[in-house]
Amino acid sequence: MIAPFDLTAIESLKEALPRFTHRPLPHLTYLKPDQIDGFWLDDIAQDLNNGNSIAFASYHDDRINGLVLYGDSPWDAKVVGKSVAVIKYFVGSGEDDPRMLNQLLDEVLQRAGSRGICLVTCKVQSLQFAAIHALERHGFLLMDTLVDFVFDFSHTSFDKITPPQRLSGLNVRLANPEDLPELLALTEIAFAQHFGRYNSDPEMPAGTGSRVYQEWVRSSFGGGADWILIAEINNRIAGYSVWKKASALEVKHSLDVGHCTLAAIHPEFFGRGLYTTLTFEGMRITHQFANHLDAPTHVSHYHVQRAMIKLGWKIAGVRHSFHKWLPD
Ligand SMILES: CC(C)(COP(=O)(O)OP(=O)(O)OC[C@H]1O[C@@H](n2cnc3c(N)ncnc32)[C@H](O)[C@@H]1OP(=O)(O)O)[C@@H](O)C(=O)NCCC(=O)NCCS
Repeated sequence: MIAPFDLTAIESLKEALPRFTHRPLPHLTYLKPDQIDGFWLDDIAQDLNNGNSIAFASYHDDRINGLVLYGDSPWDAKVVGKSVAVIKYFVGSGEDDPRMLNQLLDEVLQRAGSRGICLVTCKVQSLQFAAIHALERHGFLLMDTLVDFVFDFSHTSFDKITPPQRLSGLNVRLANPEDLPELLALTEIAFAQHFGRYNSDPEMPAGTGSRVYQEWVRSSFGGGADWILIAEINNRIAGYSVWKKASALEVKHSLDVGHCTLAAIHPEFFGRGLYTTLTFEGMRITHQFANHLDAPTHVSHYHVQRAMIKLGWKIAGVRHSFHKWLPD
């Protein structure tokens, strides 16, 4: 049986989470299962409390054996120019019964369609085969694959990392609000040839791929980031990277992780070690706040991966992004 899920049933979900086949955050391998479940339950409760998410649960013998949670994404809607919903959790227990997963997705698509949603997106771990097959049966298309890099300061001492060779004339500093226009212009040029999911989706309105990263930078200045590092050469901005401390919920559950969320280098300076230097300097700062760092990147983003591996990061997770456009 499928039924809408709300906060009144949160205790039965608490009992069900350990039975789900896949948990979130598998790339943070140092976390204990009950730590992840605690974070997960609070995250679901927080989303439902905020009023912009909807969940459905599947019940078997009065116990929850599947859950889907999705919510509106005003951020995506702003850059795409159409209403967008994101499926955040799509999980089942045991064998991940395909019929149950179908029914959960049917509910989401029906509800989203009736609310005028144009695009539904979902990121799943690469081993969530049953969920991936269910998404594909419902017409979701694979748009990109991300690898999740992690750096663990408790395993690799930062002092052991060989500092990258610095380009002559390079100054690394913190960004300030006056830098925004220059960073927006740099972002447009740097991401012109990018290949993420906003670029690979043929249904995306023209220009979305460029707008999305500019909006990312704008919202990073507006509170989305804790600091932005700038690489300056002879007083000209040549690149930046964006960093975030653990969220309040991550701190509550001792996730002990910081995040590198975006970086870009002006094409005139590609291949001169600026990204590697910015990442190294970002690691130095984040180490004051966390023992771990994560950063996702596109599976075929070899420049980023070369730099990360050189700096001691490891690939610890893989996720696929799916999109489905709903008829008008
Ligand atoms: C990806 C990007 C950040 C790399 O920045 P960069 O300053 O050119 O990178 P680095 O010079 O530090 O080089 C990192 C590694 O990639 C390699 N690399 C750089 N450009 C390369 C190219 N065109 N072809 C092959 N390898 C390349 C470098 O050789 C280096 O490896 P090495 O140290 O073993 O030689 C930059 O190309 C960029 O801004 N791209 C557009 C925006 C983007 O994709 N951002 C990342 C998404 S978050």
